Amino acid sequence: MSDTIDTLLSEHRTFPPSAEFRAQANANDVGIYERAFHNPTGFWEEWAEKLDWFEKWHTTVEFTAPNAKWFLGGKLNACYNCVDRHAIGDRANKAAIIFEGEPGDSRTITFAEMKDEVSRIANALKSLGVKKGDRVAIYLPMVPELPMTMLACARIGAPHTVVFGGFSADSLQERCNDATVKVIVTADGGWRRGGVVQLKKITDEAMDLGCHTVEKVLVLERTGEKPGPVTMVANRDIAWNDLVPQQSADCPCEPMDAEDLLYILYTSGSTGKPKGITHTTGGYMVGVSATSKLVFDHKEDDIHFCTADCGWVTGHSYITYGPLCNGTTVLVYEGAPDTPDKDRFWRIIEKHRATILYTAPTAIRTFMKWGDEYPIRCDLSSLRLLGSVGEPINPEAWMWYHTIIGAEKLPVVDTWWQTETGAIMITALPGITTTKPGSATHPFPGIRVKVLDEEGNGVDVAGPHAVNTPKGGFLVLDYPWPSMTRGIYNDPERYQKTYWSKFPNTYFAGDGIKLDEEGYLWLLGRVDDIMLVAGHNISTMEVESALVDHPAVAEAAVIGKTHDVKGQAIAAFVILRSNYSGSEELIKELKAHVAHKIGAIARPDDLFLCAELPKTRSGKIMRRLLRDVAEGRALGDTTTLADPSVVASLKDKYENSEG
Ligand code: WT7
Repeated sequence: MSDTIDTLLSEHRTFPPSAEFRAQANANDVGIYERAFHNPTGFWEEWAEKLDWFEKWHTTVEFTAPNAKWFLGGKLNACYNCVDRHAIGDRANKAAIIFEGEPGDSRTITFAEMKDEVSRIANALKSLGVKKGDRVAIYLPMVPELPMTMLACARIGAPHTVVFGGFSADSLQERCNDATVKVIVTADGGWRRGGVVQLKKITDEAMDLGCHTVEKVLVLERTGEKPGPVTMVANRDIAWNDLVPQQSADCPCEPMDAEDLLYILYTSGSTGKPKGITHTTGGYMVGVSATSKLVFDHKEDDIHFCTADCGWVTGHSYITYGPLCNGTTVLVYEGAPDTPDKDRFWRIIEKHRATILYTAPTAIRTFMKWGDEYPIRCDLSSLRLLGSVGEPINPEAWMWYHTIIGAEKLPVVDTWWQTETGAIMITALPGITTTKPGSATHPFPGIRVKVLDEEGNGVDVAGPHAVNTPKGGFLVLDYPWPSMTRGIYNDPERYQKTYWSKFPNTYFAGDGIKLDEEGYLWLLGRVDDIMLVAGHNISTMEVESALVDHPAVAEAAVIGKTHDVKGQAIAAFVILRSNYSGSEELIKELKAHVAHKIGAIARPDDLFLCAELPKTRSGKIMRRLLRDVAEGRALGDTTTLADPSVVASLKDKYENSEG
């Protein structure tokens, strides 16, 4: 960790916004920070007023840690704000979604068309028995029907839980049961790297495992004949084409209370069981629309290309709800970045003239590795702004992004936030901030963060202020913001314990952070047991539970080891039960077992069979030492180990194994 801090803080290159960008930017007056600092509620109210409300709120905020409520008494509908209000007048025939399928098919859906289609989907859900307050699981590929089904749920007041298409049957089942889901919306399959991810088949497996509250499964046809027709279960499964097109394109928007649940999205927890992060309607919509407008500088002609999947919060906030709320066109891509070739993202930008690109450091590092020839042979001249999210972006990757993709002139906004924060929290404002490669710069206007040390001493940071004393520590927040999660679904105790117990009345984000003398913030990665693999949150416990679920495994310890491309790669240390002996096949099988239990994203890169694990006298596995082993470093302090010889011999063997 200290190496990282030293390298980062020796980064002194600075990039002020160009005069040209500044002149046209939605935010170009640094006074915005000062104004929002002195009157944060007033700042958020101004953004709330840009939404359409059926009834205005009477109280802006009520906050008693850990519970916040925003825009109390207000009534609105998220779908109305993203769809209906743009489906009339000038924007009616403007593209809402431009879709590019992996096989090369594309579709454009205007706001007017989207209003009709979303209404039909909403009526179809109603005909399946979905009522206001019922939960719907969405397990779809990245096709327009995914954001449209989210919006259809919002329209009728049925909270959705989107399950990423890369997740396994077990993961889908666990989420459906936790959220007591009534209907699953899925597809026969989705295209990925030329093959088909068989979503319906996985849904069937999840149903066989037992999704006790699921009554109906609605099945979209995407991949058709390949790899053959899906099995439809009588009285349970309904083909999309037999139901949706027949529906009326009239469906009223349910007036929702500002604090009514909009969605649940599951994120990894350190106990292994995913946490159902909740977001309500009013505050969330205010947060995502304000940040979309100011961070991405959305203008009427923009085409916003966010490469995330709607299975992650980035796809909720910066594909579906934020941009569409502002009437911005979003570009949606279904497949892999290297299909048919490694220039696919750049070809998509060229073909559809995307103006904004929002992607993750893991993708940027992959593109760097593939080579400059891929972006260089494409016309990227339509781009005007670049964004990054998901993990700390190393200065080299930032510079490559700025130089090769941004032709040395486009602003790069590195945006720090979380599933739990709902919207971007720390970021540059492209028309104001002088950026430094690798720094997420400053809290967004209206946001106050704190950098605290272990004793709870620290500094407050709001806006861009120079400080004399740099400070490193934990990133925490003790001031409410509209889009903050309203807690873990059905588990207030866990919410309190996970996020609000390290420091009193303070939200602990789980990240390390450093404030430099010029008031810039540098994110340093997770300080807890959450790994960040290719920008996705996976807990060590979750992978350990999947491993010990295999009959051959007695004990497992999992760590995230530094990886050039993925940020972190999963390394597992496994003790076998005595009646099993190690082999290459078994190692393969164990890796596959994890992929099967959680999803391919959690497949360990290294799996090392060992006889013992380094433990403290109280029996806690010392992951720090395993990280030293896996990263080939000298061993750190081993004095608290019950048996110091364990780790030395482990290191020896690990270095001579194939992993
Ligand atoms: C964790 C949250 C927010 C959407 C994607 C991830 C890490 C996210 C950055 C950034 C450094 C970042 C943090 C955070 N993270 N963005 N710009 N710089 N770290 O959402 O799965 O909820 O993960 O991602 O560690 O806590 P998530």
